[in-house]
Amino acid sequence: MNAAGLSLEQAPPFGVPLRFFLTAPWFLALAAALLAWRGPEVFASRWLPATVALTHLLTIGFMAQVMLGALLQMLPVVVGVVVPRPRLTAALIHLPLTLGALALAVAFLNGIPAWFRGALGLLGLAFGVALVAVHMALWRAPVAGGTVIALRCALGALLVTVGLGLTLGGFFGWGLSLPVVSVTHLHTAWGLVGWTTLLVAGVAYQVVPMFQITPPYPSGFARGFAPLMAVLLAAWSVLTFGGWEKAALLAGAALALGVALFAVTTLYLLSQRRRKIGDPTLAYWRTSMASLLAGALLWLLAPWVPALGQAPQVEWLLGILLIFGFAVAVINGMLYKIVPFLAWFHLQAQLLGRAKVPTMKQLLPDAAIRRQFWAYLAALLLLLAAAVHPPVFTYPAALVLGVTGVWLGVNLMGVWRIYRRVPRVGLTVAPALEV
Ligand code: HEM
Repeated sequence: MNAAGLSLEQAPPFGVPLRFFLTAPWFLALAAALLAWRGPEVFASRWLPATVALTHLLTIGFMAQVMLGALLQMLPVVVGVVVPRPRLTAALIHLPLTLGALALAVAFLNGIPAWFRGALGLLGLAFGVALVAVHMALWRAPVAGGTVIALRCALGALLVTVGLGLTLGGFFGWGLSLPVVSVTHLHTAWGLVGWTTLLVAGVAYQVVPMFQITPPYPSGFARGFAPLMAVLLAAWSVLTFGGWEKAALLAGAALALGVALFAVTTLYLLSQRRRKIGDPTLAYWRTSMASLLAGALLWLLAPWVPALGQAPQVEWLLGILLIFGFAVAVINGMLYKIVPFLAWFHLQAQLLGRAKVPTMKQLLPDAAIRRQFWAYLAALLLLLAAAVHPPVFTYPAALVLGVTGVWLGVNLMGVWRIYRRVPRVGLTVAPALEV
């Protein structure tokens, strides 16, 4: 164990998380291609097949891909529990998840039940293996601090999300009869508020103080936030499904307030950073939390302000803020911390005393991160503009989304290339990459 309470000697081989991290950015590029292909019509309704395909390229292809890869890396290090057969487990998650995300998108686009069945089989396998492996590790965790508690809640929420997703898929694949709209509402809330927000919270408790040098989250908040949100989500689901509209509205408002509280707490901690030199990933955290706060406020106000409640763009703005503004930003920023750190860490173990190990900044220069961030921010603003005025902004949004996705992929591949080259030819070639 080192000072931060991390047991790095437990870390799995680099290839275990890396395969997820190097695959994910290309799903952003695919989402961009789909947006460019279908054009402004995508924004006509959130229920269009192309729209739902686009959603899952992002939520499964990009978000779940990185989140599961990061969990396989994090659990042994932060929680101190080894995931059994890490290489095999990673392969059994990564391959069906990638193929399943692609197949689900194709299934939505062509509407052929056999494609849905294939996609459901692949995604059922990927999430099934992930849930079993990660749950086993999390429940054996020797210490149950704020992070472990939040991760347990997030994993529980993933179970509900995937269960509901597979059930919804059963409607398309086997003609299962069910109330699709209300089940989709539940699936969406458990996916975005339960799985995504609680996982980000659990990770934030560890990494915000460590990487951004801030004070820690208040311990009562860190221990209580996720369980409270999980209970509220469960209550909201029962009330929604049971048709108790007023009570469901109140439970929904409490959930939105909870989400806003997490965003405000994190923004406040970031403003208390002790190191004044800007960290290039700070902009990602700030954008992510500002989007989460904006999304929560929109969600809170929409039912009470008639002008908002009736505007069809509100659901779109909410989806873009929560998926692309909040989740994609924080994941993109985290990738820039995790990938160079792991490359440096594994190189150090291989080369110690034999050759010079490149620094993290040589592996991935700050300038490359900063420039890609501007492309990301432009994509976010253009997507929001496209939701309000699709004819003008859809194609520029698709173009810039593609640019930011490919750029992220190229930046991460660059780290991997140096990682593979340095043990063979030494560091002599690496300084060319310094900026
Ligand atoms: C096994 C995995 C999954 C399957 C089979 C699945 C399937 C589905 C289906 C069938 C719908 C309804 C589409 C419609 O009624 O037109 C849906 C909606 C949705 N799903 Fe998933 N899903 C899965 C995982 C996820 C995950 C992990 C998330 C993460 C947040 C997610 C987020 C969403 C969202 C936000 C919507 C609403 C889309 C919209 O309104 O346009 N899904 N999903």
